[in-house]
Amino acid sequence: MNLKFTAIAALSLVFVLPVPSLFAQGTLPPAMKAQKADYCLQCHQTLAGVSGIAVSEWKKSIHAKSDDNCNICHGGNPDLNDKKAAKDARYFFAGKGGKYNAVSLCGRGGCHFSAVGLFTSGPHYDMLLKKGKPGCVDCHGAHEVVRPRVKFINPQMCTTCHPEGEVEKTIVSLESIEKKLDDVQRNADYLISKNAESRDILAKLADARNLYRQLVHVMSMREVRHTRREIELQLDDLLAKSHSRVLIIRRLDIIYVVTIALSFLVVVVFMIFTVRTFSRSRD
Ligand code: HEC
Ligand code: HEC
Ligand code: HEC
Ligand code: HEC
Repeated sequence: MNLKFTAIAALSLVFVLPVPSLFAQGTLPPAMKAQKADYCLQCHQTLAGVSGIAVSEWKKSIHAKSDDNCNICHGGNPDLNDKKAAKDARYFFAGKGGKYNAVSLCGRGGCHFSAVGLFTSGPHYDMLLKKGKPGCVDCHGAHEVVRPRVKFINPQMCTTCHPEGEVEKTIVSLESIEKKLDDVQRNADYLISKNAESRDILAKLADARNLYRQLVHVMSMREVRHTRREIELQLDDLLAKSHSRVLIIRRLDIIYVVTIALSFLVVVVFMIFTVRTFSRSRD
């Protein structure tokens, strides 16, 4: 009986639930691939105002580089050169996504499932649904999406809900983690360039980076208390380890250069000595 009931309940839910709940559940299918010209782009790049600016901003983004065009997020049918038909509900056009854009646009078809999963489990997702922020676009932007940095976060957006001092503290702490990640990465790159052992460091760096992404995307009290400390401990350890390996290689480099210089000096001295002895014996 239970099975039958669940099936009926599920079916009726599918028909009764309004479209936004589909968005909220992240069940939007992946975008269609353009068969011919991509008419979303073609039409929009001739438009004035926000409709056209979207194109020029998108062109500078990571998504443009990987050919992830307008419909990868918005949905719609890029093969139709008609603004209404292209956006028919059949093609799961999501418009601007409204308060569900984190899931319906950024999470369409399973894209960014990790960031979306973390974010929707944190307190900021409730806020996004209730107050319209903070969402993915508040930190990453919508169209000019580039490699994310803490400095993209606008503290004024955060201070509408948190005291200024706390926001400042959070940003300073995120920046300090970001700097350590960069420093360990730089050391690892140096070790790679010298063919030195770096796999263990790269693996642990990836772990720390994943924890950092968890912290930034969940951003709950628990994350800030526990995960942040865990990341800092891991990174301090990695910094020390990678730094000492870099120092050893630099020292070996110095010994190498000094040895070459000394050998060269010995040869020169020997040559001078030989020439002098030779010319003296001729006199
Ligand atoms: C023939 C021209 C044309 C085509 C093709 C077209 N659009 Fe549009 N689009 C427009 C215009 C004009 C607007 C401005 C609003 C309006 O007039 O409906 C717009 C508005 C939008 C908006 C803003 C919606 C809102 O709620 O504010 C989005 C997002 C969008 N288009 C994405 C797309 C995507 C994705 C495609 C391809 C699947 C596409 N467009 C295809 C002309 C077009
Ligand atoms: C990476 C995902 C992504 C891509 C790719 C993308 N958009 Fe958007 N777009 C968004 C999001 C998210 C919003 C909603 C922004 C917000 O709510 O502040 C949006 C908003 C818009 C709007 C409404 C702007 C406004 O201020 O009202 C238009 C128009 C639009 N997009 C058109 C396009 C066009 C045209 C392209 C292709 C060049 C495109 N988008 C590519 C994610 C994307
Ligand atoms: C409070 C600001 C903030 C919000 C809100 C936010 N992000 Fe991020 N995101 C960041 C920062 C900072 C990084 C950089 C992490 C790093 O340096 O590795 C990042 C990294 C990422 C990355 C690259 C790393 C990865 O996890 O794959 C993706 C993709 C991403 N975010 C997607 C999203 C999506 C989707 C949302 C909304 C569901 C979102 N972000 C919400 C700040 C934010
Ligand atoms: C619309 C309101 C709102 C905005 C905007 C907002 N937050 Fe929050 N934030 C909250 C709520 C609510 C919680 C959960 C508080 C709790 O669990 O006690 C939270 C939790 C946090 C936490 C966990 C620690 C704590 O104080 O609970 C941090 C850190 C945080 N937010 C930072 C930020 C940052 C940085 C920004 C700007 C990118 C931001 N918030 C924007 C409402 C907001």
